Amino acid sequence: MIGGGIIGLVTAWRAAQRGLRTAVADPEPGGGAARVAAGMLAAVTELQYGEQTLLDLNLASANRYPDFAAELTELTGLDTGYRPCGTLAVALDADDRADLRDLHAFQTSLGLHSQWLSGRDCRRLEPLLAPGVRGGLRVDGDHQVDPRRLAAALLRAAELAGVTFLRSAVARVECAGDRVTGALLADGTTVAADRTVLAAGSESGRIAGLPQHVLPPVRPVKGQVLRLRMPAAHGPFLSRTVRAVVRGSHVYLVPRENGELVLGATSEEFGWDTTVTAGGVYELLRDAHELVPGITELPLTETLAGLRPGSPDNAPLLGAAALDGLVLATGHHRNGVLLTPITGDALAEVLVSGELPDYARPFAAGRFGHARQEQTV
Ligand code: GLY
Repeated sequence: MIGGGIIGLVTAWRAAQRGLRTAVADPEPGGGAARVAAGMLAAVTELQYGEQTLLDLNLASANRYPDFAAELTELTGLDTGYRPCGTLAVALDADDRADLRDLHAFQTSLGLHSQWLSGRDCRRLEPLLAPGVRGGLRVDGDHQVDPRRLAAALLRAAELAGVTFLRSAVARVECAGDRVTGALLADGTTVAADRTVLAAGSESGRIAGLPQHVLPPVRPVKGQVLRLRMPAAHGPFLSRTVRAVVRGSHVYLVPRENGELVLGATSEEFGWDTTVTAGGVYELLRDAHELVPGITELPLTETLAGLRPGSPDNAPLLGAAALDGLVLATGHHRNGVLLTPITGDALAEVLVSGELPDYARPFAAGRFGHARQEQTV
């Protein structure tokens, strides 16, 4: 496994559970984009027009979350922060309201559960919302998990399942003829493998050692995220995730049970930079303040930026790549945390049987023509 983020960890864990001898190469397993992510499981509220196929995968993964989180906790004793709290997506002006009404109609046409609320009813649910909120969508099925806790639990579960951790960066993928044979690590170790899974997030698109036509078409999409602390007294600050689109940008507030309030996220396509910028922080706070004015009173405890791995259709790349021995688990873009359970199951199936399960076939690594179409490893 190249990459010990949550996608690499879940794949390694599930593969080891199915009896495969598995190693993960990563200098800091459990890190990556999950250290930054808010952990919304927002299959319905983040629905995009034209992404109905991805919706099916997102919903299937969301449905697996309760059992997945319970299994991890039972095995490791670690809580993942899975919280079935629901989400409220609100509109701040007449244009937002019209857009949200359209989204509601689209969601309803797909049989999704989402309820239209007046501004007053939104504020009844979340009293700290701005008085000007014009209406909103109550989606009781969009929950949250804490990605840092999830990563810690996955790391422990993988260790318990016998996964070996090689705490080094990967210098390059090793090839012999038309076959990937493993990886050379930065510490000089060569790791030989029958199958090498590339699960390096946005780095997957520029890993050394692969011919250009085999590199997955994955680009970095920067997200800046803030963490604040909610007051312990006076009842919950927010009881569920609250989000909106403000001036075309998504802003969301994810309240954790431990008092952390995660505020995200920018979406910037300027390469590999992970600087937290004054402009990014300003825009997030400005937009969130329009939504919930009281946030400016809260202590700001952390600012961080990460890189989402974006693919051409913003859906994941799963399964066999253009070279024998290479398997992809990358390109999850905005849905890496949501798609963690189902990615682990799908990749374990590929590694054991050579076949992607039916639900994952629309996301086969070869769909952009850069990789083999057949699903064997
Ligand atoms: N899914 C939330 C984000 O990527 O910002």
